Amino acid sequence: EKGGYEHFMIKEIYEQPKAIRETMSGRLAKDDSSIIFDELKWTKDDLANINKIFIIACGTAYHAGIVGKYYLEQLARVPVEVDIASEFRYRSPLVDENTLTLVISQSGETSDTLAALKEAKRLGARTIAITNVVGSSIAREADQVIYTWAGPEIAVASTKAYTTQLVSVCMFAIYIAGMRGTLPVETIKTLIRGLRELPAQAHELLEDVEPIKTFAQQYGFAEDVFFIGRSLDYAVALEGALKLKEISYIHAEAYAAGELKHGTLALIVDGVPVIALATQHDVYEKTLSNIKEVKARDAVVIGIGLKGDKQLVKYVDHTIYIPATEKYLTPILTVIPLQLLAYYAAVTRGCDVDKPRNLAKSVTVE
Ligand code: F6R
Repeated sequence: EKGGYEHFMIKEIYEQPKAIRETMSGRLAKDDSSIIFDELKWTKDDLANINKIFIIACGTAYHAGIVGKYYLEQLARVPVEVDIASEFRYRSPLVDENTLTLVISQSGETSDTLAALKEAKRLGARTIAITNVVGSSIAREADQVIYTWAGPEIAVASTKAYTTQLVSVCMFAIYIAGMRGTLPVETIKTLIRGLRELPAQAHELLEDVEPIKTFAQQYGFAEDVFFIGRSLDYAVALEGALKLKEISYIHAEAYAAGELKHGTLALIVDGVPVIALATQHDVYEKTLSNIKEVKARDAVVIGIGLKGDKQLVKYVDHTIYIPATEKYLTPILTVIPLQLLAYYAAVTRGCDVDKPRNLAKSVTVE
């Protein structure tokens, strides 16, 4: 059932090109000018009064929500708040009929997410779920559903669910942007062409994992690892740190790179591994200066940059390159080496990769 792979997690990592392709299947207009969601029954009028979007989820799905905030705010120009489901449900959220609540859940059964969805509905919000499981409790409760079509995810650590959640929320943002008229059609076309290339690019990243295996073996016994990045890279850093923590039990933290000098820099000492994500053009120079700060404290830096970047290599100890794509789409690729790093670190340490201690695949109790 593991199809020749040693663990479900690595099988599911390798399934990502296919999973991403299926998520997009039938949803990209032939001429690339729009997103087709036949399953969504909202009209332009239904959405005309929406003045705020809440994205609610737990864990990895919450991290997908943070990327979703960038997508929806930048592309559809709607203010978005992202919240952890167990926080949202108890804080009397400011939600009304002009709010759209988007919940994200792989299993569709997470109890806090389900309760948050019910709370948003009670307060009169329109609701939509991005989920992987057809007919799940969350799918049944939400007004509208976008399925991720990633196929069953068995390993506790979420991988293909995350990348397909990103693809789904990206398509949803383009769809809303189309309805609201916030994007020139040329931009929509560029994004959709970028989406079409993702499966092949994800495949390309999975072809050469030897350097990542080597890093994992080299740094697999570190006590602490830091992930830094700005903008969308910060969102991916959060997910990279969670992956490493949950399956390798290495203490890992993600920081917005600009936040380092407000405290965390005190922890950066000789030999501490820092994974620095530098794929975002708008903040590239700023990130480089943060990389210099950690190098000056003798951190060991693994830089993740875009293919063609000639500068990064000068400031870091090791590099991993991501195929060049639209800035919005980079997270879908950048996370793949981080998943692999976590996986090989866990294997190096002899951890139970598919069933990490204390964790369950689906959290149906509070
Ligand atoms: C991490 C992980 C968890 C889940 C979280 C939400 O790898 O799998 O953090 O993402 O428990 O689960 P779903 O998406 O099923 O609601």
